Amino acid sequence: VQERTLVALKPDGVQRRLVGDVIKRFEQRGFKLVGMKLLQASEVILAEHYHDLRRKPFYSSLIRYMASGPVVVMVWEGHNVVRSSRLMVGDTDSAQAKPGTVRGDFSVHISRNVIHASDSVEVAEREIGLWFHVSELVSWDNAD
Ligand code: CMP
Repeated sequence: VQERTLVALKPDGVQRRLVGDVIKRFEQRGFKLVGMKLLQASEVILAEHYHDLRRKPFYSSLIRYMASGPVVVMVWEGHNVVRSSRLMVGDTDSAQAKPGTVRGDFSVHISRNVIHASDSVEVAEREIGLWFHVSELVSWDNAD
């Protein structure tokens, strides 16, 4: 199944110069980049993105963290990309994330976990629609 998912470098990932490493991992896995931008996220978009977590005790610190610097949001396309991305990103709690995953290689704490990846196909569709205008997504194929 061809799918799309939203992957985002969080502010700590950008500040620690991990953007290139993450892009490299997804490229070498064989996924196709169909959208990408760097931006300072507004509280409005973050509130929408993390709507399901709004009652969690860490919610306001999560929003502050995500607004503390630019994020790089990307849309990756490919076979089972939603599930594969979650495996490549590693456990939400970086302390539990396996070596070889992005979090397992670069992060030790759940509240500074470097990267986001959509956790289901439905969520991916919602998140891509939230962060990207249709015109910012590019369908492309290798030239003959
Ligand atoms: P992510 O899974 O990308 O999206 C939800 C985020 O909430 C998660 O990454 C963490 O950054 C954050 N989060 C989840 N649980 C906790 C927690 N117990 N304490 C602090 N932050 C958390």
